[in-house]
Amino acid sequence: MISYTVYKVVHYTGVFLLMVALSATLARAAALWRDSEESVDPWARRLIAAHGTALFLILLGGFGMLARLDVTEGLALPSWIWAKLGIWVILGGFVAARRSPRLATPALLLVPVLAALAGWIALYKPF
Ligand code: HEM
Repeated sequence: MISYTVYKVVHYTGVFLLMVALSATLARAAALWRDSEESVDPWARRLIAAHGTALFLILLGGFGMLARLDVTEGLALPSWIWAKLGIWVILGGFVAARRSPRLATPALLLVPVLAALAGWIALYKPF
C-alpha cells in the first residue's frame, strides 16, 4: 500500500513542477510579447507537457493523501478539497494567459499567491 508520505512527495513534486512550468511559460510569453507582435515560443510544447504532467501529479498525490487521511464520507469530498480543486482548475487554466500580452504578467504574479493559498487551505482546513 502506498503511504501518505509517498503521496505527499508526489503532490509536492507536482506543485513544484507546476510552479516552474507555469512561470516559465508566462514569463517567456510576457517577454516575447514585449519584443514582437506575436508570441511564438519554441519551448511552448515542452512547457505545456510539463504543465499537464504537474497537474496530474498534484491530483494523484492529493487524492492519494485524501484516501490515507480517511476524511471522506462515501463520495462526498470535504469543502476544503473543493476549494483546492478550484485553485487547481484556475492554475490549470492560467496557461492560456500566454496568448494575451495583457494577461501574461498579472497571471504570473498571481501564481505563487494561489499556490500559497492552496497550501494554507491544506494546513488549516478553514471550512
Ligand atoms: C495547484 C493546486 C494545489 C497546491 C499548490 C497544493 C498545495 C499543497 C500543499 C503545499 C500541501 C501541504 C500541506 C502540508 O504540509 O501538510 C498540500 C496538502 C494536501 N493537498 Fe494540495 N495542493 C493543490 C491542489 C490539491 C488538490 C486538487 C487536491 C485534491 C485532492 C489536494 C489535496 C491535498 C491533501 C489531501 C493534502 C494533505 C492535507 C493534510 O495532510 O492534512 N491538493 N497541498
